[in-house]
Parts: sequence; C-alpha cells; structure tokens
Amino acid sequence: MLPQEIIRRKRDGLRLSEEEIADFVGGVTSGAVSDGQAGAFAMAVFFNGMNRDEAVALTLAMRDSGDVLDWSDLPGPVTDKHSTGGVGDNVSLMLAPIVAACGAYVPMISGRGLGHTGGTLDKMDAIPGYVSQPDIALFRKAVLETGCAIIGQTADLAPADRRLYAIRDVTGTVESVPLITASILSKKLAAGLQSLVLDVKVGNGAFMEKSRDATALANSLVEIANGAGLKASALITGMNEPLASAAGNAVEVRNAVDFLTGRFRDRRLEDVTLALAAEMLQSAGLVSSNQDGMRRATETLASGRAAATFARMVAALGGPADFIEKPEKYLPAAATEFAVKATANGFVTGIATRDIGLAVVGLGGGRTRPDDKVDPAVGITRLLPVGAEVRFGEPLALVHARSLADAEAAAATVLSAYTVGASKPPADKSVIRRILPRG
Ligand code: URA
Repeated sequence: MLPQEIIRRKRDGLRLSEEEIADFVGGVTSGAVSDGQAGAFAMAVFFNGMNRDEAVALTLAMRDSGDVLDWSDLPGPVTDKHSTGGVGDNVSLMLAPIVAACGAYVPMISGRGLGHTGGTLDKMDAIPGYVSQPDIALFRKAVLETGCAIIGQTADLAPADRRLYAIRDVTGTVESVPLITASILSKKLAAGLQSLVLDVKVGNGAFMEKSRDATALANSLVEIANGAGLKASALITGMNEPLASAAGNAVEVRNAVDFLTGRFRDRRLEDVTLALAAEMLQSAGLVSSNQDGMRRATETLASGRAAATFARMVAALGGPADFIEKPEKYLPAAATEFAVKATANGFVTGIATRDIGLAVVGLGGGRTRPDDKVDPAVGITRLLPVGAEVRFGEPLALVHARSLADAEAAAATVLSAYTVGASKPPADKSVIRRILPRG
C-alpha cells in the first residue's frame, strides 16, 4: 500500500495491519518513505496511539530492519537492562559486571546522552583506550570472555529506528508511548536478548515527571516486549534527585569504580543497582526469588567479583589493565574545581534535578547539537542528597570545569537548583514499584 494511504488510515484513527506497518517501516529503512511522510506517520500515531497488536508489529518490523544478534552459543542466559534516562545514573557500569559475575551474559548496547540526561556510552568513552564501538567479533569476544560488554549501537542494528528517531526528534513526536516503546524495544530485540529489565525513571530529572505517565510507559514496555517474545519486567525508580553524588562522564566512572571496589557507595544508587540486579537475575532464571537475587547480587559485590569483572571488561575492550586500581591515573581531570556553597543553614529539601543535568551539559559534558564533542573531564561531584543537613558556607556540590567562568555559571545553576529548608523532609523511595507482565 502507498505510504500516504497508511498515514491516512492512522490519521483517521483506524487500526493498521501487520502488513501495512511492515510495509511502512520497510520504506523508512529503504528511503522509499520520505522524511515528511515518516514525520506525518509519527504525528498520526502521536495523536491516535496504537493498540497492542500494532505496537508489537511496529516493534518487530523495526527490529527486522537490520541485523539481529544471535548468542545461542553462549553457555548462560543473555540479559540486559534499559533505563529511560536520568541524572547521575551510572547504574549500568555496576549492574552489568554484578549480573555477569553471577553467571549471566550482558551484551549491553547503550546510548549517548539525550537532552539533560547522561549517556552510558559517553561515560565509557572517558576511559582512555576503551573501544566503545567495536566490531561484532570483538564485542562477542568480550562478552564471551568476561560476561559483559558495554558498547554503542552499531549502524546495522534497527536502522529504521535510527532514522525514525531522528525525524521524531525534530517533529515534536518523541513523547508518544507506542513510539518510545517500539524504539527502545526494537534495539533490545535486535541485540538478541532472552530477558530484559526496564528501569523507568520518574521525577523532576526524568523524561516522565508524573507517576501516571511513568506507569503507562512501564506497562507498555513490559506488555509489548512480552508480546514480541522478550521476557521483560520493569522497576519504576525515583529521579527527584541525582542518583549518584556525581554527574558528568569521568566523574561518574570514578563514582562507579569506588562503588565496585567498596571505597564509597551512594545509598540510593546502591538500592537501585541491587534491586535491578535481583530483578535481572530472577528474570534470567539464575535465582528462584527476588530475595535470592538480592542476596546473590550483594554477595557478588562484596566479594570483589563484580569489580574484577568490570576490570576484565575494560581491558578486553582496549582500556588499561590496571584501570580500577588507579582510576585517577587514567581519567581526565578538569582544570578548575569550584565549590557551590550553601547560603543558609538547614536541610536539603529538594533538588531541581533536570537543572543539574543541564549544568553538566553547559559545562561541555553533554551535547546541544548531535555532532558536539563531549568533554569527559567536566561535571559535578559531592552533590548533597535530599535530607542532608548543611550549614551556611558549607559545600552543596563541587563543580569541575574548563575555566572559572564556566565553573561560576554552573555553580549558579546548581545553587538555584537546591532548596534548603528548616526541617528534614521525609525520605523519598528510590525503588517505587515493580511492574510484571499481566496474566
Ligand atoms: N530512547 C529511545 O531509544 N527511544 C525513544 O523513543 C526514547 C528514548
């Protein structure tokens, strides 16, 4: 059928067949569908939605637009996690080695920073020598030998999503639950996983600020993944403050190394990481209950096996062999450090988390245009969490910048992002809800 007829049917609120969706996605991949037609299709879906069968068909058609990896030669379950994105969210760097050290295989295909949120790929790129875009042979070797590999998406995986996503980005059609669902899941299905855990963030530093929207996205992701043959569950986790006390690329890698080696662990980050590890181990069939998963993950972290796995992964992908012993020797450091000082006595009662992410972008740690180069050294550390007591003149955070002018601009943003009040606020839950497939 002609692309314009498929668009008309969706525009008029009709249900598209599997063949119509496959035809349209085929045209997106081959170029037979123009940018204008793809944008009009996305807008029609934005307004009229898709039912479960349509969303499954869209996901599968986008998966099949490129290569689908096959890990059937691996002697263990193949699993991964996807986060909808946040600030100070370096969970993947700890989670992949914890779960791999428990016996699963984690071929983690991650993305670059998007908007105010950080990207795992940009963080791994802060490690000198680390090949974050290896060819498939090196990717496979690293996964087989170390249990995990964190890399970037290749051009051959879900190319229809790559094109449609770029068009959605400039046509006001990103925030559509079926389109987000198909976009995320087509890439995960193309990665050849057997199970997937989704970390759907909610709060003022997440794309979904309201609980109702995060729950709708989590339900859609879980339902469509399972409909497409991928075992999936989700955790809804809080993003009303940065998860780690560091935000930026090298500084989040350093925070992750400290976490793995036990030198320092942010409490909320530990809660979320272990909860996701337990969920992954259970859905991969390596433990019989969530409590068992939590116990296995906690022991593996405490034993140092997760740290050793991370070290092996870094070396297998070209990074320094002694990286976790001497991260300070390898990670780039910014020229200027600047403390953001509290202007009152009291307790941190709130953090405008998106503004913290934007401050990192402003320092050069993220992008304002797709082809911008990211500065791995800049960022913010020692971010006080909500509930922390602070006195006038004491640091709320430490800015790492290229220049004093950059540092002062970021410090002003960070200061205005913090609210300090007279009484300690009640603790916010870090893991809010678990979403399992219905039925
Ligand atoms: N991340 C994706 O991969 N796709 C979306 O549509 C939104 C976030």
